[in-house]
Amino acid sequence: MSTTNQAKKNTQKKAVPHKEVAEKPVMPIEAVETAPAPVEPEAPAEAVVEAKKKILFVASEAAPFIATGGLAEVVGSLSKALAKDGRYDVRVIIPLYQDIRKEFRKDFKFIGNIFVPLSWRNQYCGIFEYSVDNVTYYFVDNEYYFKRPGCYGYYDDGERFAFFCRSVMEILGFINFYPEVLHCHDWQAALAALYLKTIYCFRPEYQFIRAVFTIHNIEYQGKYSLDILEDLFGISYRYQYLVEYDHCINLMKGAIECCERFTTVSPTYAGEIKDPYYSHGLDGIVRRNEFKLCGILNGIDPDYYDPATDKSLFANYSAEDIAPKAVCKEELQRMLNLPVKPETPIIAMISRLVSHKGLDLVKEVAEQILRQDVQLVILGTGDGSYEAYFSDLARRYQGKVATVITFNSDLSRKIYSGADLFLMPSKSEPCGLSQMIASRYGTVAIVRETGGLKDSIKPYGAGGNGFTFRDYNAYDMLYVINEALGVYRNREEWQKLVKKAMTTDFTWATSAKYYEALYLDMLK
Ligand code: GLC
Repeated sequence: MSTTNQAKKNTQKKAVPHKEVAEKPVMPIEAVETAPAPVEPEAPAEAVVEAKKKILFVASEAAPFIATGGLAEVVGSLSKALAKDGRYDVRVIIPLYQDIRKEFRKDFKFIGNIFVPLSWRNQYCGIFEYSVDNVTYYFVDNEYYFKRPGCYGYYDDGERFAFFCRSVMEILGFINFYPEVLHCHDWQAALAALYLKTIYCFRPEYQFIRAVFTIHNIEYQGKYSLDILEDLFGISYRYQYLVEYDHCINLMKGAIECCERFTTVSPTYAGEIKDPYYSHGLDGIVRRNEFKLCGILNGIDPDYYDPATDKSLFANYSAEDIAPKAVCKEELQRMLNLPVKPETPIIAMISRLVSHKGLDLVKEVAEQILRQDVQLVILGTGDGSYEAYFSDLARRYQGKVATVITFNSDLSRKIYSGADLFLMPSKSEPCGLSQMIASRYGTVAIVRETGGLKDSIKPYGAGGNGFTFRDYNAYDMLYVINEALGVYRNREEWQKLVKKAMTTDFTWATSAKYYEALYLDMLK
């Protein structure tokens, strides 16, 4: 469901003004200055927080309940960060999928059911509630739509998420919770912003709700035939102009038009999506709405990813005592049937095996990388051709390459902790969390300067926390890999760099402040 466009050009910086906190929050990593210009929020100047503001996150997944990728982690950890000191009433609503495990479900409380109108349909909607870390979660239950394995990939996904979004709007009345901020994430939640604008804002209780829409990946836009606008989505053709794009319904476009503000998950990506090279066809819409766009870098949950306490690790360690990381490396080598060699650097990749992750670059120079004294560890699933290529590479380079075609959180943590270098040469990357997790575990990142990779990893040569290259070119990547291997051999320098990576602030502390400032500015 994506369109493509190629052609690079520069973009401009656009800042979102906001007022509220006294001090200007500082971005964890200094701003980037080369094209495309990042779109950063500007620090607030004045204003006062009054009553507890109500924030509702609408999303298709949230960790720890159900997660297929970074979206879930962000929904889970950002909501927790915003709720932390009790200044906001933060709630999250997601579908009750079959795959949400019993260990969670057993504590969910059934609070009632309603019937939800969706065009001519009238569907059952059960509501479950659960609170954790100051955040109240709601789960939308309908077995016809959600009692299926997995979250996505069904012929009727449009209808499933339309039902979900319409349910969200109806549930507000049932629980008597009308948030000031309705924060919708990705296309599956886009219809909530559309329903607000086209149906609900005319009702008195809903008129003060303001919608924010966050793009986690512009590739997935939710495109459908225009024929089903009324019959399936229940939106009058009067509003066709809001959702129509390229002769289709485009839900992401509709949410961008309808929301008060839209954000994306790093300042650099906010600049990039104005460019056809990155926008998957939506750059015109993004540019037209640029005045309400800003990019805020994601964080990770430092408790969830803590090498000092992580039970998956062979040994625990911290920036103050890095030595046990050697045990993690040794055991990882043993586990993956690689020769146990403490001096040989391990380069790891943990990734979906799909083209925009930059795997073609790795394919192009794999032999050159492997000519050196290194070990390569690959974990992930994805396109058959990449799975076959990396499996074959492991066969050809036994004792140097280990490929594991699966996704397994426990093994991923063993790799994050046991490796020395983490390679992430993405062609595009809205934010990326793996480079932050790797850094936190003292595994130094090598990234291409795109999206959140550029905003979170700064080049070693300039005093940074990792290694970076700019152009999407295999030999530029090879050059920085070699640079990294050179630094690795200088033990003292390497220890300093590992420590720097581990102590970079990737927590939500700063980014959550940017969201707060954005909300408060919008509500002025
Ligand atoms: C998407 C993006 C990824 C980002 C994540 C969380 O999965 O592809 O780059 O980190 O969302 O925002």
